[in-house]
Amino acid sequence: MWERSEALVACADASGRFARSLPAAAPPGQGVGGSLAFREGGGGVDEMRFEDRVAVVTGAGRGLGREYALFLAARGARVVVNDVGTGIDGCGESPSPAHAVVEEIRQLGGTAVADVHDVSTTPGARALTRAAVERWGRLDVLVNNAGISILRPLTELSEDECRRVLDTHVGGTLNMARAVWPHMLASRYGRIVNTCSDALFGDNGLSVYAAGKGGVLGLTTSLAAEGAAHGIKVNAVVPIAATRMSLEALQDDEPMTALLTDLFPARLVASVVALLAHESVPCTGELLHAAGRRVGRIFLGATEGVLWKEDPTPESIRDRLCEVRETEGFRTPSSLSASMAFSLEQLGAGGAEPLALDLSSPAPGRAEPDTQG
Ligand SMILES: NC(=O)c1ccc[n+]([C@@H]2O[C@H](COP(=O)([O-])OP(=O)(O)OC[C@H]3O[C@@H](n4cnc5c(N)ncnc54)[C@H](O)[C@@H]3O)[C@@H](O)[C@H]2O)c1
Repeated sequence: MWERSEALVACADASGRFARSLPAAAPPGQGVGGSLAFREGGGGVDEMRFEDRVAVVTGAGRGLGREYALFLAARGARVVVNDVGTGIDGCGESPSPAHAVVEEIRQLGGTAVADVHDVSTTPGARALTRAAVERWGRLDVLVNNAGISILRPLTELSEDECRRVLDTHVGGTLNMARAVWPHMLASRYGRIVNTCSDALFGDNGLSVYAAGKGGVLGLTTSLAAEGAAHGIKVNAVVPIAATRMSLEALQDDEPMTALLTDLFPARLVASVVALLAHESVPCTGELLHAAGRRVGRIFLGATEGVLWKEDPTPESIRDRLCEVRETEGFRTPSSLSASMAFSLEQLGAGGAEPLALDLSSPAPGRAEPDTQG
């Protein structure tokens, strides 16, 4: 049963808090449309809230990041709205987007500060982290969202453009993780939400952008393992949303632009990010697909494969490639050890001690990590 959209108004509740409600559902195919709106309450008695939490959202001056910042602030978080204010291709800088979003949050009764550092640099990531910790004495949530996109065939990308894309996605996520990690370890608590993309599935002109998102995927699964014993959970969102970035990629394709705008408003992704950023999130090292009103999971899987009696040759593998590639009965190992255990099990050595990496304490002679905030 689809409800009629209702008009929503912005207002703070008695405690000065405010909460954003999502608009009512629209019939399939008619999209959800609507604009940002605030009202009292929103999620019922078990609403996931962020009182006492400090959240840093990178690239929050526009698009998806702005929606995350507004949503987390609406749920009680104190938010650092970071944005260097750059173009889609990473050229140029402006303080305006970050400040505009902070103003918007404050107008609605929330608490936020602006930060305009470039997270693709180590000093930028450290300064942003310092700003949060010095201001509010803690840092609980990091949403690594800042991103740029230069979508062209490989031979049409300059070295500088390749570097810029990788520095922003892999570098920005890594720099921020390195900067916040010591604080999260000290408080034995942290939630990190990284940003991947359907580009991981590949397409023309996506190579370097997809490589960046692949790096973020690797960071997500491994940092999840590294944080597990310390109360730190690391997941990633895979969004689809109408923003300047995605709309530009459509290159004036009007029907697709209309479809994207209608079915994939950026604000819908904020619910997935808020879940992944919340203390109650059950998973770590996972990717949630936020595609309009459809929320799913994207994962790495391993097929059952084929077990040869003799050593396999290229020819014998070719002859049974269909079985090798058969995805029925696939597994989703949650770690390197689990993947190794799966292979051992398939080889009839189940129960053998799988390779278990534990590098959680520094090896003798290894340099102490740089923990400068
Ligand atoms: N829109 C989509 O459909 C989609 C799909 C998959 C992934 N993504 C990813 O989602 C994230 C947000 O994208 P968007 O669509 O909202 O794009 P957007 O261009 O609207 O916003 C990105 C923001 O990040 C900021 N930024 C870029 N580099 C920065 C840096 N080094 N330091 C600080 N801020 C920086 C920009 O100034 C901009 O305001 C990106 O990581 C993008 O790759 C988006």
